[in-house]
Amino acid sequence: MTGVAIHVENLTKRFGALDAVVGATFTAGPGRVTGFLGPNGAGKSTTLRMLLGLIRPDAGTALFDGVPYRGLAFPAGTVGAVLDIAAAHPATTARAHLRTCCALGGHPPERVGKVIELVELDRFADRRVGGYSTGMRQRLALATALLGNPETLVLDEPSNGLDPSGIVWLRSFLREFAASGGTVLISSHALSELQNTIDDVVLLDRGRIAWTGELSELVATGNTLEEAFLSLTTRVGVK
Ligand SMILES: Nc1ncnc2c1ncn2[C@@H]1O[C@H](COP(=O)(O)OP(=O)(O)OP(=O)(O)O)[C@@H](O)[C@H]1O
Ligand SMILES: [Mg+2]
Repeated sequence: MTGVAIHVENLTKRFGALDAVVGATFTAGPGRVTGFLGPNGAGKSTTLRMLLGLIRPDAGTALFDGVPYRGLAFPAGTVGAVLDIAAAHPATTARAHLRTCCALGGHPPERVGKVIELVELDRFADRRVGGYSTGMRQRLALATALLGNPETLVLDEPSNGLDPSGIVWLRSFLREFAASGGTVLISSHALSELQNTIDDVVLLDRGRIAWTGELSELVATGNTLEEAFLSLTTRVGVK
């Protein structure tokens, strides 16, 4: 597979008097896992929402191989996105939810069984989503994003709520996805975990890009990712 190249240029979003994202410019390429990092409120989710055409930027562009998300011929088959934890009806089962999403997206029905297997949701797939734990919901969200067999993934804090085996599973899944040519852009606060997952770093601080480059460069001075993060970003609550 070949994931798309993600190009974000000068992306800017203001909410009232708040500069949520200011001139953000970065890239995420195929065959790489790019970590999108920053303190709470840095503007990561806002950036990803602009990237996926969910909110309109005040300025700038976000392109997938040169095309905005809303201009893609087959969005769900090109980019798999997990922005919020799966919002399935509590009375439905994961399998039924996935069948509905599969039909709505026009994907082949056999994808349902395939994605359940991929995210290792087999044991829970026929239980009602209302009784799901956070980690099960995360897996369901990822399964939904994978229905269109996308070669690019945009994930906002997908490891939230995953148990240790879920985290190990997600890491190997994303590493394999990138190794086979896919593009992964992932935001997360689990820095020690990310250190073993990502190739490239995009660091956002108070809406502005604070650092971009290869992880190996960022930690070259012997710092851990966490130490580098803390020295390059402002702590929440500190002006
Ligand atoms: N719809 C909105 N209306 C007003 N302000 C918003 C809106 N969405 C986000 N913000 C503000 O924009 C800033 C950036 O928020 P965002 O959710 O993008 O941060 P984040 O980096 O994803 O943080 P976290 O790590 O906590 O998820 C915050 O100050 C937030 O309160
Ligand atoms: Mg967020």
